[in-house]
Amino acid sequence: MDQSTIETLVRIAYIVAAAMFVIGLHRMNSPATARSGNLVSALGMAIAVVAAGVDVATPSEGQEVSGLAWPIIGLGIAIGGGLGLLTARRVQMTAMPQLVSLFNAVGGGAAALVAIEDYGALAGFGGSIPLQTTVATVLGVIIGCVTFSGSLIASGKLQGLVPGRPITFAGSQIVTAILALAALAGAALLIVGQPNLAILALIIAVALIFGVTMVLPIGGADMPVVISLLNSFTGTAAAMAGFVINNPVLIIAGALVGAAGAILTKLMADAMNRSILNILVGGFGTGDAAAGAAAGDGPGGSVREVTADDVAIQLAYAQKVIVVPGYGLAVAQAQHNVRELAELLEARGVTVEYAIHPVAGRMPGHMNVLLAEANVPYPQLKEMEEINPEFSRADVALVVGANDVTNPAARTNTSSPIYGMPILNVDEAQNIVVIKRSMRPGYAGIDNELYLNPKTGMLFADAKDGLAQLVAAVKAV
Ligand code: TAP
Repeated sequence: MDQSTIETLVRIAYIVAAAMFVIGLHRMNSPATARSGNLVSALGMAIAVVAAGVDVATPSEGQEVSGLAWPIIGLGIAIGGGLGLLTARRVQMTAMPQLVSLFNAVGGGAAALVAIEDYGALAGFGGSIPLQTTVATVLGVIIGCVTFSGSLIASGKLQGLVPGRPITFAGSQIVTAILALAALAGAALLIVGQPNLAILALIIAVALIFGVTMVLPIGGADMPVVISLLNSFTGTAAAMAGFVINNPVLIIAGALVGAAGAILTKLMADAMNRSILNILVGGFGTGDAAAGAAAGDGPGGSVREVTADDVAIQLAYAQKVIVVPGYGLAVAQAQHNVRELAELLEARGVTVEYAIHPVAGRMPGHMNVLLAEANVPYPQLKEMEEINPEFSRADVALVVGANDVTNPAARTNTSSPIYGMPILNVDEAQNIVVIKRSMRPGYAGIDNELYLNPKTGMLFADAKDGLAQLVAAVKAV
């Protein structure tokens, strides 16, 4: 096959891959089509990787390609693909955010390396480098390096390797500002001056340190939003690297990830009623869920404790039960137990639905993914807007390990940190049952007045144990 035919085929493959990314992303709009969307995107990426390999390993006019090109590409695919497959298969659902963060680090780092390598090669030839290449290199390197180090810290915080609480030191904001200025000054020097590898090295070092100082002051519990932001950075850095090496599919894939990550970050911040700036400045809440839980003694007032037998009777004779899953359900891995309970109730003629708050749990789509894993039928999962009018018609709202997303203070208490956050109207149900281990608060570190509501019964238990008790008790009714 001649050179120009190969080039045409590579371009066609890039267009097909880009179209598959867009179709895949679109299919992720609904849980019912998300798996196939993922598959379509992965297939598109496989096509893009093969096409890029052919592109790189095929010599163009006057160019020589080393015989090692294919073996090196193959080795890279085997190592990267193998590690990716292994970690993705082994990871626990609750550890998914830190894995995504690690992948962001790798993506950002790779994008920066691509830009650095290309710039280094061009600078090595002497002479000037086109302005657009320098601008794309500088942006790609800065964003890629910030993403690399920032994502490693974010992942470490979630994994407990770095303390989850906000870490600040005297003058930390000044240091961050100086680092940002140094990176900008270096960028300006490279853009207006001659190619200079020493300045590029300075920019790399400064951006790497900036990534660390940017993420350290942010509490562990805010990490999902930060990870989503860094994911958007990864995409942007990849798009910049695409401009540097003139690869259209890298530009398109990077732009899609950049835009999707930015939209998700905004949605998450809105659903928590916080601004992205407020999250990045750091210091919110208690740092992480465990620390938060240990801090509180519970709201003042009396709570009504109930037993599994009491609740089983309420559930078994109800017409409509709305299950409200939260972070505690995910931690306890109680998704299968909740489905088992729901099936028992349905067999008795009870209508069961699940109320899904957009930020229930610790990552976007956390509850949908967990419940889908347990084969809960998709039509039973109701988004907040759809389910909220239903609570007043429900005989029982069964809250399993959810806290902040049910807290009426978000509607009524202007001084509450979650005031204005849209919540599930659990308090409108005829009866409320809450399964959690204690009166300790959730992620936001605040008390929940729902627990003092006379309609509320507290079943103090681990989510899995509590649900297992309910299953046994309903069977006995
Ligand atoms: P939270 O408000 O964090 O409450 C979770 C509750 O689960 C805790 O009060 C805890 O009480 C209970 N729990 C923990 N382990 C348990 C177990 N093994 N069994 C039973 N209960 C257990 O959770 P939520 O209602 O899902 O709200 C999510 C929060 O995370 C929101 O504030 C949201 O803004 C924040 N957030 C979410 C995201 C995304 S994208 N989802 C991102 C960043 C932040 P006990 O200790 O008493 O058991």
